[in-house]
Amino acid sequence: MALFTSSQALEASPTIHKLLARLHAESEAQETSWSQKIFYVKRLFRNYLWGVNWNAASDDHMRTKFVALEQDKCQLVYLLARAFNAKNIVEAGTSFGVSTIYLALAVGQNVQRAKALTGEPVFGKVVATEKEPSKAVRAREHWKEAGPEVEDWIELREGDLRETLTVEEGLPGQIDMLLLDIWTPLALPALEIIRPRLSAGALVVTDNTIGARPLYKDLLDYLHDPANGFKTTTVPYSKGLEVSVYLPSISDC
Ligand SMILES: C[S@@+](CC[C@H](N)C(=O)[O-])C[C@H]1O[C@@H](n2cnc3c(N)ncnc32)[C@H](O)[C@@H]1O
Repeated sequence: MALFTSSQALEASPTIHKLLARLHAESEAQETSWSQKIFYVKRLFRNYLWGVNWNAASDDHMRTKFVALEQDKCQLVYLLARAFNAKNIVEAGTSFGVSTIYLALAVGQNVQRAKALTGEPVFGKVVATEKEPSKAVRAREHWKEAGPEVEDWIELREGDLRETLTVEEGLPGQIDMLLLDIWTPLALPALEIIRPRLSAGALVVTDNTIGARPLYKDLLDYLHDPANGFKTTTVPYSKGLEVSVYLPSISDC
């Protein structure tokens, strides 16, 4: 049971609080079902026995699933984005758009605040990514329901992010935050595409790095290699949340 209400963590309209409560409940119901638990255990075994991390059958199974980032992790991500004043965020893995709502709220609020303080034009957006067309449709419906404080801040790139994130047009030159909430084999490719655009001090947040640790070996090796410029720690949320900060040496900036 949640100890705190979302209104303590999140600046958002009552409509958005209600929408988020509904979407998290739907996702939670799917995730706690036996069929979903069995799917995850089988995946770990397949990887252990045959080195198969993900396949077409996994995609079929997941097409109707939210797999949303849990509410407590979403709240942390929102607060980090506010604290870091993140104005340009990339989300690898959008699904039905739940975590994107938090990111968009943070970006919109950071941009509006910077505009009010400086009187200058300030820009920002969340670049969301989803390869399943039916999931992209549902995500857009949820953002519409949330309204302009969410919908106006999102650019959704549909298709395989290994292609969509390499399209330069519209991709901010400096990215302040990257959320890696994607099938494990895609996490490192997404980071490698975005890394040249990460601002010094940018945050990279990766879900499930305790629950799926063996499947994240390549990503964690990369984050732990000092040559790549990250400092990283695993926060012990359920199944783990990796919080990494990009701190390249001065000569690489
Ligand atoms: C864990 S879910 C994302 C959940 C979402 N962040 C949320 O909290 O609501 C991962 C999503 O990544 C998508 N995905 C998987 N491979 C992808 C790829 N190559 N390019 C873009 N999206 C992909 C899946 O279809 C799935 O919907």
